[in-house]
Amino acid sequence: MISAIRPAPAAVTVRVPAKVNLQLAVGPARADGYHSLVTVFHAVSLFDEVTVQLSVRTAITVTGEDAAAVPTDRSNLAWQAASALAKATGQRSAAVRIEIRKRIPVAAGLAGGSADAAATLVACNELWQTGLSSRDLAELAAGLGSDVPFALVGGTAVGRGRGEQLTPALAAGTYHWALAFGHDGLSTAQVYATCDRLRAARAAAGDRPGTREPELSHPLMTALRSGDPAQVGPLLTNDLQPAALSLQPALRRALAAGRELGALGAIVSGSGPTCAFLAHDAARARELAVALTGSGVCRAVARASGPVPGAIIVRDRDRQPS
Ligand code: C5P
Repeated sequence: MISAIRPAPAAVTVRVPAKVNLQLAVGPARADGYHSLVTVFHAVSLFDEVTVQLSVRTAITVTGEDAAAVPTDRSNLAWQAASALAKATGQRSAAVRIEIRKRIPVAAGLAGGSADAAATLVACNELWQTGLSSRDLAELAAGLGSDVPFALVGGTAVGRGRGEQLTPALAAGTYHWALAFGHDGLSTAQVYATCDRLRAARAAAGDRPGTREPELSHPLMTALRSGDPAQVGPLLTNDLQPAALSLQPALRRALAAGRELGALGAIVSGSGPTCAFLAHDAARARELAVALTGSGVCRAVARASGPVPGAIIVRDRDRQPS
């Protein structure tokens, strides 16, 4: 039998989705500064695209949504992803040109930077033909950031630990969303720190017992299995929401507007400031998006549906024969 040996591609393009958190239960800060959490990740159809190709030196270019806000040096998680993969696989000529086409807003609570890192891992893995398994890639992803492993797999999944330990969640049906983007970004680290401060203040006032270990919402898991957005909507929760609202009080107006306009659920996504509104169906999501745009409570609105798969190769450009 002749086995087909595939030539290494000259360029690889990977598409990767944004995420929203259907539940984000935040526990106490751990010794390493991260918070233990239980979250239900849900990948939605708002995608970045990352293309990698061999180069004489590593460089990043960014186009699209918020491009000017994205660093193009080593501080970019996509650069770190390429370096980590090169190191792990002993790649000798590991310089790559990384082109990121952004549709996921930056610092928005949608894990756009993590998505680009996951896409870069998948793209470089193909470009260099390293043969690493998805399990190996997931391990590298966890070293890059809490949300990176989920961007590799997508779908709907429960995240534990600091978010990097994943188990797939049984979710039926498709969920339709309107995503309202804020004018300014929020730093994830600052939102977690504010959450701690608000909790400490409430505990000092005798208002609240100490922070408990987070627990998965079983009512939400049951609702997700039913596939009925009307059941899911009221069960969306986010422990970081009070912190995001205290940093950007205007988000309250956005959430209230979405509820008044008939959203089944209205929630800050992750560390914010994006607000995610769940609709009955695609047509209602479109109406909601139009009405939110007209209400002036946010910078822009996008429609998206989920769950969608994680980072996937959409184009391999073959090496030209020399
Ligand atoms: O893991 P990642 O680099 O995306 O996290 C960004 C920041 O968010 C961390 O530096 C930390 O301040 C905060 N974080 C946290 N607990 C988590 C995840 C993130 O405190 N489980």
